[in-house]
Formats: sequence, C-alpha cells, structure tokens
Amino acid sequence: MYYIACDLANMHYSRGRLGGDGVALDVTILVGTMTGTADLGAQDVGGALGAEGIAAEVVQMDGLDAGVFTRNGAFLICSSTYGQGDVPDNAQALFNALETAKPDLSRVAYGVIALGDRTYAQTFCFGGKRFDAALAALGARRLGDIMLHDASAGTMPEEVALDWLPGWIEHLRQAPGQEAA
Ligand SMILES: Cc1cc2nc3c(=O)[nH]c(=O)nc-3n(C[C@H](O)[C@H](O)[C@H](O)COP(=O)(O)O)c2cc1C
Repeated sequence: MYYIACDLANMHYSRGRLGGDGVALDVTILVGTMTGTADLGAQDVGGALGAEGIAAEVVQMDGLDAGVFTRNGAFLICSSTYGQGDVPDNAQALFNALETAKPDLSRVAYGVIALGDRTYAQTFCFGGKRFDAALAALGARRLGDIMLHDASAGTMPEEVALDWLPGWIEHLRQAPGQEAA
C-alpha cells in the first residue's frame, strides 16, 4: 500500500510506503549548514530514503524550535560544525531551544550525520555530536552510529552518507513505531 504526498516548500520525497500496521515510515531530515555542504548531503539521503519507500522531508533548521520533534516518524540530524565546535548559525535557535525548553523526547528516534574537518582535532564533528548529546539527554533514542564526515579526507558527505545509510535504514525498520512525541 502506497501513499502520495507533495510539499513544495521543502524537498519532500513523497512515495511513502505504509507498513503492515498502516503506520508510515517517515523521516524528517533537519539540516544545519553554513555553506550548503550538509544540505547537498541531506538532499541525496532524502532521495535514497525515498527510493527505499521511506517518505523523507528535508527541512532547514532555520527558525525551528523544539516543537519540530512532535512530528511523526524518525529524524536525521545533518549538521556541520563551526566556530569552536559549535552548531552552524541556522541551527543555533533549535539547539538552544532543546537546552532551554527541555522537552520530553523519550518517544523520538533519530540518527546523526555530522560534518566536520579533522584539522579541527579538538572539535571534530562537534556540531552533530552536540545535537546527539542534547537529544540523548532529553530521552531520545539514537538509531545506529553517528556518521562522521571529514572535509579534509577527499570524499563528499553524500558518498559517505550513502554507504552509511543502508545500516541506518535497518535500524529504522526494526525500531518500534515512531509515534508523535
Ligand atoms: C570557520 C570554520 C570553522 C570550522 N570549525 C570546525 C570545527 O570546530 N570542527 C570541525 O570538525 N569542523 C569545523 N569546520 C569544518 C566544517 O564543519 C566543514 O567544512 C563542513 O563540511 C562544512 O559544511 P557546511 O557547508 O554544511 O556548513 C569549520 C569550518 C570553518 C570554515
């Protein structure tokens, strides 16, 4: 059983498959980026999820607050790192909201695609890692390992992400139903 959805405001990969219990496998990909690299990776991951029959929506973090985690389905945090291991500017409001509002995220499942550069040895991929720590502290459950991308390694984030994604999808398919928080 399939359903069709369309969202022109953000990229919404819309051929979602309904599970046997009628619950859609949905993933919201939240993008924290300064110069767009994380967004390129997120778009490819969204397309790959769609090809697996998982409805994926790529949403920029700009202006979001912790209420985004009341959406149905799982989440993929796709964030680069700036400053002294900080989240990017467009992710600051959401990150701060998690720390101040402290919502109960015990029904939230998520994965992390963390972008960084190993030349920043002390803070490598801290943007994604800080989101991971904040979400875990609020009770959310990470599916699989964090994906780390090193900008100085000569690979593109989307290449590394598409290698990592099948394992994450396995975790997603085995996870209990992701209801709204
Ligand atoms: C000014 C500046 C500061 C950075 N600081 C860090 C850092 O502390 N840790 C890290 O792992 N990467 C750091 N990076 C690397 C970026 O996170 C990396 O290049 C990433 O791919 C950029 O993705 P984006 O275009 O989506 O923002 C920094 C890059 C710049 C330009």
